[in-house]
Formats: sequence, C-alpha cells, structure tokens
Amino acid sequence: MANRNVITTQVAIMGAGPAGLMLSHLLAKAGIESTVIELRSRQEISETVRAGILEHGSVNLLVDSGVSDRVLRDGDRHDGIELRFDGESHRIDFKELVGESVWLYPQTDVFIDLAARREADGGDVRYGVTDTSLHDLEGTPKVWFTDAEGVEYELQADFVAGADGSRSQARSAIPENRRHRFVHEYPFAWFGILAEAPRSSDELIYANSANGFALISQRTETVQRMYFQCDPNEDVNNWSDDRIWETFRGRVNGNGFELKEGPVIDKTVLKFRSSVLAPMRHGKLFLAGDAAHTVPPTGAKGLNLALNDVKVLFEGLDSFYQTGHTGLLDGYSDRALDRVWKTQQFSYWMTSMLHTPAGADDFARARQLGELNSVVSSRHGRAYLAEAYTGWPGSR
Ligand code: DHB
Repeated sequence: MANRNVITTQVAIMGAGPAGLMLSHLLAKAGIESTVIELRSRQEISETVRAGILEHGSVNLLVDSGVSDRVLRDGDRHDGIELRFDGESHRIDFKELVGESVWLYPQTDVFIDLAARREADGGDVRYGVTDTSLHDLEGTPKVWFTDAEGVEYELQADFVAGADGSRSQARSAIPENRRHRFVHEYPFAWFGILAEAPRSSDELIYANSANGFALISQRTETVQRMYFQCDPNEDVNNWSDDRIWETFRGRVNGNGFELKEGPVIDKTVLKFRSSVLAPMRHGKLFLAGDAAHTVPPTGAKGLNLALNDVKVLFEGLDSFYQTGHTGLLDGYSDRALDRVWKTQQFSYWMTSMLHTPAGADDFARARQLGELNSVVSSRHGRAYLAEAYTGWPGSR
C-alpha cells in the first residue's frame, strides 16, 4: 500500500468496452472526470468478432453525442428481417410496421470509434491492467490496479461503474447476501463463422427448421457472418468447411433459395445464458451492461442494452454533480431493469421460437410452427417483433 501511486477522479470505470467508454465519453462532455481501466489490450478488443445490429436509439446516441458518424456512412440500414420456416420466407417490415430501422454496424467498430474519440479528447483510459480489486464501496471507493508497465495504483473516486463484462470483477465485489442473480440456461449454443462469400440476401434471415436454427447475417460485400445452433460442447476442430455448409444448407436452403458459399475464415462456438443481477447497484458501485445482465444473442440486444444502461447511469451521475441530489442516481437500477426485463423477454422469446431443442417431440415441433405462423400472419404479432427488434422508445 505504501508504494501505491494515488490517482483521484470523480468516476472510476471498470471496463473499456463500448459501455465503459461511452460512459466516460458522456461524462467528459458534461465536464465530469473519469478514469477507465481495462484488463485486455486495445488491440485484442479491436480484433474480437462481436455481434452487429444497432437499434436506432443506439445509433442516435453514437451520432448525437459526437462519437462518430461512421455508422451512418459505413453501416447498412436495415428496414426489415426475414423469418424463414417450413421452406418459406416471411418479411417483417420494420419501416411499415413501426416506422423504424436498425443498422448493421459491428460492435467491434463501435469500440474502435469510441476508443479513438476518447483518445482524441485526452480521456484517461488504461488498457492491459492486472491485479484489480475494489475497496470501501459503501464509503469512499477505491480501485487498486497494476498498469501495463507494472506500476501499482490506488484509484480514488466518488463512484465506481462496473462495465467489465459477463465475467465482471466488479460484480463479484458485491457481497453474496446483497445481490440476487436470476439465471436461465439454454441447451444449445451458436456456431459462428465468417465466410468469404457474396451476400445471400439483402436482409438478415432468421431460419427455423426441424434441424435447428440458423442466422444469415452480413459484414461486407465479400465477407459474411452466419451462425447455426449447435451443442454447447461442440469443438470447432471437428467442423470442416464442407460439414459447415452442409449444415447451413439443411437449415435454410429450399424452394428456390440457395445460400452463397465460400471459404470459412473464422469459426467459434458461442455459449450463452440469460442472467440478471438485481439490484444493479451496491453502495457507490453501479453495474452496467454484461456485468449486470446477459441475454442470448438472438436479436442482438447485448450491446444495445448496455448502451441504454449507460445513458440512464449518466443521467443519474450528471444530475448528482449538477444539483447534489441523488434521486435520479438512486433510481438507476429500477429504471435500467425496466428495459432489461423487457429485453430478457424478447431475447428469450426469439431464441425459444426459433431454436429446436434436441429430442423435441412432434407436439413441440408442430406447436413451434403454430407460434411462428401466429406471428407472421398477424399484423400485431409482426409489430411486436418489429418494435422490440428496432428498440422500444427511451427509458421512463
Ligand atoms: C448478428 C448477431 C445477432 O445475434 C443477431 O441477432 C443479428 C446479427 C451479427 O453478428 O451480425
């Protein structure tokens, strides 16, 4: 302790993913100081393949707060998706149903934009730190860490934001008897690939079949992102390109539709679960994003939900520094959880409606087709999906 260098700031932020960096950016714009610490290197985060869909509210937050307008130039606006089952595609027309769109703009690019903006604005962001620990969260919070050069620090702050992802250290600093964690496990995972191939379709295809789920997404003119439902213990080394394409064909091709295939340049098994920690606060520590909750990937809500947390948390912190009142900050957890649980429902629903559990009996299969038909054949069904997918209006 004697040798620790002391730094003081107003908000200590654990995690330099999109949530942590966006919070730091919004605070800086309001004249509030923060220091961000992150275990991974900037390069490692810039190279991790992540999901790709931004709600219109997330796009507005990036553009209106001045992070970057690259999403509008380099991203693709999508006005709908296709649900494909029983060999037929059914379009969910977002624009016509709810007047909104989403943007295909990968999370990795959101990180790159935010990291560049924080750097240009002289933000204090320290990547590659080790040995982090949190102290005195109910009094004067302190975060200990060792920086990438091996120098030990004590970061003193008014508040700590835990935006350090699903394996959050900030979360584990909350005593067990002061938190409740809701968890739901799924009996499947996603096999994700990047392939060198042209686009197969103008819009994303969410496909259900008796063989399981598949999602046809996109990245560029020449590289595509796709996923298929797999066993959580699947080993990517057992999957040749031929076997991968045969699996996709068995889930999406048919009735004149054929996927465009090409060399697979990246493959990963993505495990997931639904989880929520409540409350999202302990003393001076506020959790945001995956540190507080995770959703299954169907519908790509993780990043969007994290950005909503950060917006709500920023409003609470800003109000405290402007007025000295803690009312909005005290309401953070309840306000954030309102959208978290709606999003949990949507992500669970999309996942259960589109995936096929191993060993599903004929009743389960026929009921699932009934559910899909009840959505696509009803304007109300399609509109629920469209509103949730493109993002509900802002938090209460
Ligand atoms: C992508 C990922 C998703 O989970 C989703 O629902 C849509 C798109 C993607 O990575 O492109």
